[in-house]
Amino acid sequence: MGSTKSKLIQLFKEQEDYLSGQRLAERLNVSRTAVWKNIKELEKEGFVFESLKWKGYKLLESPVSISPSEVQQSLDTIELGKKLFYFKEVTSTQERVHALAKEGYPHGTVVLAGEQTAGKGRRKREWSSLKGKGMWMSLLLRPPFPPAKAPQLTLVAATTVVQVLREFGVTAKIKWPNDIMIGDRKVCGILTEMQAEQDWIDYLVLGIGLNVNQNETEMPGELKKKATSLYIETGVESAIEDIVSCLLNRFEVELGRFYDKGFLPFQQEWQSSGYKTGEWVDVSTWKKPWRAKVTRIEEDGALTVLDEQGQEQRLYSAEILW
Ligand code: BTN
Repeated sequence: MGSTKSKLIQLFKEQEDYLSGQRLAERLNVSRTAVWKNIKELEKEGFVFESLKWKGYKLLESPVSISPSEVQQSLDTIELGKKLFYFKEVTSTQERVHALAKEGYPHGTVVLAGEQTAGKGRRKREWSSLKGKGMWMSLLLRPPFPPAKAPQLTLVAATTVVQVLREFGVTAKIKWPNDIMIGDRKVCGILTEMQAEQDWIDYLVLGIGLNVNQNETEMPGELKKKATSLYIETGVESAIEDIVSCLLNRFEVELGRFYDKGFLPFQQEWQSSGYKTGEWVDVSTWKKPWRAKVTRIEEDGALTVLDEQGQEQRLYSAEILW
């Protein structure tokens, strides 16, 4: 997305009055024709302008859908989101990113969708992705570490989501390995898929689904008690663009920290944000569900629990049941 469009939106948002083509051209250091072309492109993205001969342009409406230009305008990343695709509707953003990865797209490529018709959750579950109501996003990552470290990266993403939610006014907890909870209801799920050989990652697709603006009635029946949204928790609607840019900005910093220092710095953060730490829960592994007390997160990202016989068990892959 060209930066002239981002700058144009910025200018219109700063000044709610008419701006002449001449003035816009001067401010952006481009020709008047370039201003006109960019405004036409923004109109295709759903922005509505009023244009008066002697006064210029006024921004009347921003699109209900997500505006990639607005996201990019707020990014201060070097890699994440530099290539950003927005689709009004897709089956799953995960699938789009897999396809882009195979075409050779670089680390940091992002796909956002207004709606997913076949959103995927962990363990082949469906992920409800109502139109315009959430952040349905997948990132293409080509990290410089071996496949064994991939689960830790998901945990790093989870801690980043908690930081972002804090910035938007809510305290969230991480249900190991990658659900984000507010109280006892899930607000966000993370799905990591990997294309790798034994000692080398070709690419990772990190999918994040965050419920943003759904109200109680918009939650699908079976999820009503189990799921929540930022709006349900705060009573305030949030701009999805702001959440995406905040997340990408923070995640790039956290990724750098993870590359440099490993999981250790995140262990502490995880520990303080762990859902049901110190409590008894049902755990589902390959055998039938069993009771366990959540103890701590290890330096390698494993979850240590205490079973009913008082034995510590390290979990690398499991699900904590509700
Ligand atoms: C889970 O909690 O089971 C993980 C849910 C992950 C959902 C996100 S939404 C964006 C991306 N596209 C998908 O199809 N799934 C992930």
